[in-house]
Order: sequence, then structure tokens, then C-alpha cells
Amino acid sequence: MSYIEVKNLNKNFIAKNGSVEAIKDLNLSIEKRDIFGVIGLSGAGKSTFVRCLNLLEKPTSGEILIDGVDIQSLKGKDLRFKRQKIGMIFQNFNLLEQRSVLANVCFPMEIQHVPASERKEKALELLRRVGLEDKAKAYPSQLSGGQKQRVAIARVLASDPDIILCDEATSALDPQTTQTILALLKDIHDTSDITVVIITHEMKVISQICSKVAVLDKGVLKETGSVDEVFNNPTSAATKRLLLIKNTEEQSEEIEENAEKAGEEEEINA
Ligand SMILES: Nc1ncnc2c1ncn2[C@@H]1O[C@H](COP(=O)(O)OP(=O)(O)O)[C@@H](O)[C@H]1O
Ligand SMILES: [Mg+2]
Repeated sequence: MSYIEVKNLNKNFIAKNGSVEAIKDLNLSIEKRDIFGVIGLSGAGKSTFVRCLNLLEKPTSGEILIDGVDIQSLKGKDLRFKRQKIGMIFQNFNLLEQRSVLANVCFPMEIQHVPASERKEKALELLRRVGLEDKAKAYPSQLSGGQKQRVAIARVLASDPDIILCDEATSALDPQTTQTILALLKDIHDTSDITVVIITHEMKVISQICSKVAVLDKGVLKETGSVDEVFNNPTSAATKRLLLIKNTEEQSEEIEENAEKAGEEEEINA
């Protein structure tokens, strides 16, 4: 049995103009310590899927087993504990603006009644882990996007998670910062037992860090497999479309770079 097993998952929303089938009969297996990517265009159902994984959304039907446990059967303390072990990071970081960086990282430990001295020590250690020990006293508004996401990662690690869900965690960051955040997530993965699920609309995020990928389109799983397999030999129109978007973006980046170089040469020659 896989570490995470999603069976016949459906999620419908009742909206003003009728019902939306955000996830349609999704079946997916994620192994322990995978870095598993879920890719799709906006509206594909990616966020709904991860929100079902940590029970922020209640599935309309279907089963989600984590480590053999049907998470929908959990209640009270067991449910709270399971949720604590599934950390999540977001595109907009979701930091507490009125709290210092240190107090943000301490926050989950406060909820879990970790003694104050232990909290502070662990938070400082985690800030060192993400390269922000000198920002402990700063406030979120004083940080760059990349630094904010590092705080969010330290905060997630404060609960000793089994799983980290990343919902477009690098989508608000520039390409260079994206690289450093993905490298940090990879390093955390490589030095722990944590299973990482990365949700993104960007193929290059998946290529950089994931071992396996699932392609979602309008709530339907189109294909899944190793990243090499799926990206080098796409079988679905949805994957081919994502590849086309990536290639077009890379081409325009190249054109921009060449234009910049030409500009610099002109300056030198002038
Ligand atoms: N709370 C909600 N109420 C109604 N419709 C929703 C809700 N959340 C998501 N949806 C709809 O479900 C579909 C999938 O959305 P979402 O999971 O956010 O996609 P993605 O994260 O891939 O962009 C979209 O059509 C969206 O409008
Ligand atoms: Mg989303």
C-alpha cells in the first residue's frame, strides 16, 4: 500500500450558477518520501485537491488514506494531530503580520503547548536551518518574498511534519528566488523523512525538484508517472499544452536575454 492513497475522490462545489465538479473521480498514489508534483492550468482543481488532502475541504465522495488511515474517519484529538503533521505553504506566505519572525515560527508550538523555552530554542534552530537567524526580531513587512517563504517553511517544520503541501509556493517569486526556495525544499526532503507534494502551474518547478508528477485538467487526472516519462513522452493534450507554454516562455526569456546582451554590446562599442 502506498503512503498516500486517493481513491475515487470527487469534490463538487455548489455555486450561484450551478454545481462545479472541481475533482472528478481522482485516483492517485504517492509513496513515502516522494517529491510529488501536481500540475495543471488555473482552475484545474489543484488547490481543491491539496485542501482535501489536509481536510480543509471535505470530499463529496471518495477515500483518502494516509499511512493506511482513512483520514475522514478521524475526529477530535486524532484529527488535530494528523493535521499538525501535514504542513502547508502558500503563494502568499500567510504570515502573521503583527508578530516577529521568531514569534511566527513559535506559533504552531504555542498551539501544541510546547514549553516557552523549548519553543524559542527550536524556532531559532529552524531559522538557522532556513538561513534567517539574523531576522528573528524582524517583522514580515521588513522581509523580501523569498525571506517570507523561508519563515513559512521554518514555521511548518516547527510541527515536525510528515507531509509538506506546497500550493503555488513559488508563484509569487522571481525565477532566481524560486530556485533557492526549491533548493531549500529539496534539501529539507533529502535530510528528513518528509513527503513533499508540490502544486504548481509551472512545468519548470516540477522539472527542478519533483520525481513524479500528475497532470490535472478540469478536475480530471490526465496522466501520471515519473517526471522524465511524462514530460519526454506526453500522451495527453493537457500535458502537451503545458509543454508548449513552457517552451514559449523559455523562448521569450532567450529573446529577452539576447536583446539585453545586444544592448550591453552596443553600450561597450559606443
Ligand atoms: N469554495 C469554492 N466554491 C465554489 N467553487 C470553487 C470553490 N473553490 C474552488 N472552486 C472551483 O473549483 C474549480 C477548481 O478550483 P481550484 O482547485 O482553485 O483550481 P486551481 O488551484 O487548479 O487553480 C474552479 O472551477 C473553481 O472556480
Ligand atoms: Mg490553486
